[in-house]
Amino acid sequence: MKNKPVIIRSPGAMTRWSAGLKGTLGFVPTLGALHEGHESLIKRARRENDVVAVSVFVNPLQFTPEGFKKYPRNLAADAKTVGAAGAAVIFAPSAERMYPAGFQSQIILPPLFGALKRQKLEWHYRGVLQVVLKLIQIVLPDRVYFGLKDPHQLALIERMAADFNLPVEIRRCPTVRERNGLARSSRNTLLTAEERAAAPVIYQALRAAQKALRGGETPARAMRALERTLVAEPLARLEYAEIVDPATFASLRRGAREALVYAAVWLGEKRLADNIRFRLK
Ligand code: PAJ
Repeated sequence: MKNKPVIIRSPGAMTRWSAGLKGTLGFVPTLGALHEGHESLIKRARRENDVVAVSVFVNPLQFTPEGFKKYPRNLAADAKTVGAAGAAVIFAPSAERMYPAGFQSQIILPPLFGALKRQKLEWHYRGVLQVVLKLIQIVLPDRVYFGLKDPHQLALIERMAADFNLPVEIRRCPTVRERNGLARSSRNTLLTAEERAAAPVIYQALRAAQKALRGGETPARAMRALERTLVAEPLARLEYAEIVDPATFASLRRGAREALVYAAVWLGEKRLADNIRFRLK
């Protein structure tokens, strides 16, 4: 371990620590159960700032009660990863400290896009925005790092930061994958051996759509290529997939320069999401 990060549990202490800092502070918000994807964000933050803080907080507002209970937690292992990646501090508050009795204010989301609206995920994204806003106010960073692994989350956070003039820079970071293409995710640890072996089909399905689009096929046909790839894997069940313009999340139009293909797939009781974004010309 490079250094042992300090673990701070109270929002007040976190803000005091930050206010006393000299130099720039990079911040990586996480739910914990850290993996190589998180690590790449922390290392980038370290390269671009004097000091880095990582938050580890399983935010109840963005989970169903069942999902909240099941989410993997291991602060001791996370502290090792954070230290090795070069961050100085872990902010790990309890839910009671983040949402004390009397907490009431809510963020109203901007109009949501396509699949999000259909899938009724507004409550989830509202929970994400609320916690990210609070974390930024508590940690007082100069730059905050997010993964393109979660493109809707990132777009909503960028919107919020601009709309509320948050005095931070939001940095986008590429998705880290296993060699077989499976996107790194804390949820991968919940998969059985069979599900893990099947999981790379998600990336393969995204790539099948990419290949079709680049070959001049329509989005509808590219979607069928994606579905065909997934159907060939009996353990996988497609929840939804969309092919959109990454700037607007609206359906991809003829002549578009860039495409975003994303899918949410169930493997047993576990829901995995992935996406790829690429140029068409
Ligand atoms: P979590 O899923 O822990 O992810 C923390 C950050 O790591 C997010 O910005 C996410 O996009 C990024 N990330 C996850 N997997 C990645 C991968 N394989 N490659 C690159 N980056 C990856 O996203 C959340 O937590 C929460 O919603 C949070 C923003 C912390 C709010 O609670």
